[in-house]
Amino acid sequence: QAFNERESLYIALNFAKNLFVENLKSDEGRSIGLSYFKERGFTQEIIEKFDLGYALDSWDHMLKSGKKAGHSEEILLKAGLVLQKDDDKARIYDRFRNRVIFTIHNLGGKPIAFGARILTQDKKQPKYINSPETEVYHKSDVLYGLFQAKQAMRQADNCYLVEGYTDVISLHLAGIQNVVASSGTSLTEGQIKLIKRFTDNVTVLYDGDAAGIKASLRGIDMLLEGGLNVKAVVFPDGDDPDSYSRKVGGEIFQDYLKNNARDFIEFKIDLYAKESEGDPIKRAEVIRQVVQSISKIPDPIIRTVYVKESGRLLSIEEDIVLAELNKILLKGE
Ligand code: GTP
Ligand code: MN
Ligand code: MN
Ligand code: MN
Ligand code: MN
Repeated sequence: QAFNERESLYIALNFAKNLFVENLKSDEGRSIGLSYFKERGFTQEIIEKFDLGYALDSWDHMLKSGKKAGHSEEILLKAGLVLQKDDDKARIYDRFRNRVIFTIHNLGGKPIAFGARILTQDKKQPKYINSPETEVYHKSDVLYGLFQAKQAMRQADNCYLVEGYTDVISLHLAGIQNVVASSGTSLTEGQIKLIKRFTDNVTVLYDGDAAGIKASLRGIDMLLEGGLNVKAVVFPDGDDPDSYSRKVGGEIFQDYLKNNARDFIEFKIDLYAKESEGDPIKRAEVIRQVVQSISKIPDPIIRTVYVKESGRLLSIEEDIVLAELNKILLKGE
């Protein structure tokens, strides 16, 4: 046996990537997939850079093409490219059908998984179908766009963290390359370790809806716990980085990021302050929420800096903040 199983999976996944990319150039792919991407403002250059593709409206195009090219059913199954119904082993069919394809690469640029977006507004089907966990794809250890971002992350010594595939791509179109996506799942320790290989500074750009704000609060605490310096930008309600950047254009979008990136502490204060104006009990809650995040920071010196900063921003005695912090830190021991 010339190849071990992992290598066979990589080869099959690379084959699948090439097939999806080729599909986009077929008649069906051009009229459905390419026109969808064009509608979203994606350029030919960006389509190539991200290996965007199209899965034909077919039950077995991947299966048949894969087998013809010498990939066994077993490998196609293990790569997550085709599926088998439990109760009907005879019936094997393509996982991705009639969807546009976002190729997910590993750090070295090899395709390891796919995200597939529906083309209609059909609420009965999931918007995205993603590859399952496989031997070469551990979702919790992958950040979408990292392969295309890593150099820029080092250079800028900062990383923008977004929620979705299309946010990554739109930021590239807006001239920002140091951007990765957690792809809808809540951030993991593995993903944070990956970021830390390239920079210690993260700016969180989550969607401007309730779910996005909730996710960014969770993400911020995890990033702080990982020892990263964290900023956040809030978008208008209903916008995500993709929709907002397309609305205002690349130049204004870049300015928006510069002018609205807040230290996590200001982000949290702003968020809670809106609800707590003049209400002393709610004000106490703001303090607790802010101190909660500060308690996640592993470095005691940096914690002290933020104690001072939050005292100033909240116009309260530093000692009160410190007392609250020590209470939380003691409880955690
Ligand atoms: P567009 O609607 O195409 O702009 O995508 P989006 O990235 O803005 O989608 P959304 O904000 O709803 O979700 C963010 C990310 O979560 C997506 O990019 C996906 O990675 C993931 N996601 C969203 N919907 C689904 C779903 O139905 N299933 C799965 N598995 N993941 C999803
Ligand atoms: Mn792993
Ligand atoms: Mn959202
Ligand atoms: Mn979104
Ligand atoms: Mn979107």
